[in-house]
Amino acid sequence: MNQEEAKKKIKMLSTQLEEHNYSYYMLNTSIISDFDFDMLMKELIDLEQDFPEFASINSPTKRVGGEVSKGFKTIEHKYPMMSLDNTYSIEEIRDFDTRVRKRLDEAEIGGSDLLRYVCELKYDGVAIGITYKNGEMVQALTRGDGVSGDDVTANVRTINSIPLVLKGTDFPAEFEIRGEIYFPHKAFAELNKLREEEGEPTFANPRNTASGTLKMKDSAEVAKRNLNCFLYSLSGADLPYDNHYDNLMAIKEWGFKLPYVISKPTDIEGVASFINEWDVGRKNLEYDIDGVVFKVNLKRLQEILGFTAKSPRWAISYKFKAERASTVLNSISYQVGRTGAITPVANLEPVLLAGTVVKRASLHNADQIARLDIRLNDTVYVEKGGEIIPKIIGVILEKRPSGSTPTEFISTCPICSTTLKQKEGEVAHYCPNEDGCPPQIKGKIEHFIARKAMNIDGIGEETIELLYDKKLIADVSDLYTLRYEDLIELDRFAEKSVQRLLDGIESSKQITFEKVLFALGIRFVGETVAKKLATHYLSIESIRAASLEELVEVEEIGEKIAESVVRYFGDEASAALVQRLQAHGLQFKMIESDLELKSEKLKDLSFVVSGVFETYSRDELKAEIEANGGRNASSISAKLDYLIAGDKMGPSKLEKANKLNISIISESDFNKMIT
Ligand code: IVH
Repeated sequence: MNQEEAKKKIKMLSTQLEEHNYSYYMLNTSIISDFDFDMLMKELIDLEQDFPEFASINSPTKRVGGEVSKGFKTIEHKYPMMSLDNTYSIEEIRDFDTRVRKRLDEAEIGGSDLLRYVCELKYDGVAIGITYKNGEMVQALTRGDGVSGDDVTANVRTINSIPLVLKGTDFPAEFEIRGEIYFPHKAFAELNKLREEEGEPTFANPRNTASGTLKMKDSAEVAKRNLNCFLYSLSGADLPYDNHYDNLMAIKEWGFKLPYVISKPTDIEGVASFINEWDVGRKNLEYDIDGVVFKVNLKRLQEILGFTAKSPRWAISYKFKAERASTVLNSISYQVGRTGAITPVANLEPVLLAGTVVKRASLHNADQIARLDIRLNDTVYVEKGGEIIPKIIGVILEKRPSGSTPTEFISTCPICSTTLKQKEGEVAHYCPNEDGCPPQIKGKIEHFIARKAMNIDGIGEETIELLYDKKLIADVSDLYTLRYEDLIELDRFAEKSVQRLLDGIESSKQITFEKVLFALGIRFVGETVAKKLATHYLSIESIRAASLEELVEVEEIGEKIAESVVRYFGDEASAALVQRLQAHGLQFKMIESDLELKSEKLKDLSFVVSGVFETYSRDELKAEIEANGGRNASSISAKLDYLIAGDKMGPSKLEKANKLNISIISESDFNKMIT
């Protein structure tokens, strides 16, 4: 492909992908399959790698992330990011309306007659200001202190519902659009499920997690989390309309996601009924809101009203009352998870809250206990906001019994009495007795048998409990020594269920290596990472032999994961467990038929392929490298062995390879190497 062709093709693919993205995320219709979408994306990624001179900063490939920032630059806002005055009752809203009318009347322009309010929801997320120039996203800043914010552009580019390039031509040459980045309930639940599988502590609250996610250094991680965004205001010199409502409607035409709920009632009674409607309606939304916002519609009136030091005089928020109750803390118990993480749980005097009886609330960790200074027999407030799990938000100090003492976090494991540890940089306490602490052992077995892991039928949490208590299993390898005679003795087992369990265990020996690797429950090695490691290294021996430096070279394997893998295989008990499982016949390498090597001629050699080839497509060539024991590297670095140069290879690659003294070979040189 020559330069001209590549440029055209890149442009065409970008437009196509952005169109598909738009129909999927904005219109909720998909025109092509996920697979075809991925293929188009891959084609574009490859082309941009070969012709980096045509890779736009707002290419759809930026949606998958990949940019890793060391820190975030702080940049001054062009228009300061103010906050809103809060109110908590309809009376206060009526007062606001009276104040607005009075000021407008004083201006003697008949403003009162022109006054209309736009009602919106108050999304509970993180504020963002995004600047577009000539239809392209150029910058996204967090609120920061309101005067300057952090540049999180690379991360914001991964949010699928925010356009990178605008549709049509009817937008101002330069403008800033503001909105709220939030975690949809579904994406938040999926993230927590994944973390549970990976043995990581789950997140408590969608807003804080959205805020944390936006500040992650690796944008590829952000891309995986499926954040979303609602946009609620425009600033700039030549906006299309003289009022907020019409401007908001216009952004839809440019490809932005408009909030679904906006109304423009004719009087203050309409405003009041909007409050009542959404105080109830919010429970059925797929995201959290913490109130509603009212804004004066006409820009001209907004200008007359102006600002106080902190907030506009033309807008106000009404905050919903979170449902709250007070009750007494009876005790704190401590749960031990699969990874040994300790979670403190408050046991409360049962109390009715938002229609359900609340008896327990998570206290998360030692920091949270200290922050609340919560003590035994304290009377506390429990609250249910948008979230499902109730939380303790404070202590009623006046009701504290005299002589109470601060809560001391336990120092030993409540189950096995081992002294607890804290890992550097983490707030959680851990019980380090991984192989001897019953809940950790049982948790690991539960993880092992799960559907996404070994998928063993006929066994559940209670059976594991029973088998463990009867000393029939002490770790996952013991599952493979269970005998019919042992099981039929047990109360819960009839002939049929014993057979089902034994069959399930037997057929798990055919489960593929990547799932076995996931089933081992190595910290931070979730499903995707396990798959990556398995297909890259092909066998447990090669993973075990890999050094930290080699592991981080693998796509998607960061330092945290690499360290955890090295730690796992360095541990004698884990090594012995793997050996026992191997002896029982589990799959510890990728199945031969998939991966039979043609030769080992390229063993320990790494390659980058670039350009167009005569006898292979690029993918065929890559497959040929692997089939002969070689490795495909993702980019040119000093460690690379060979660059296979095809026709029309991008000049920058050639230059880089020359600079680093890398051997550049042709297709026919390569063929000689493997024959
Ligand atoms: S308008 C001058 N509209 O609430 C401030 N803000 O407390 C104009 N928020 O920082 C803000 N939903 O992050 C506006 N529909 C909405 C909003 C909204 C949520 C947030 C926003 C702002 C904070 C103010």
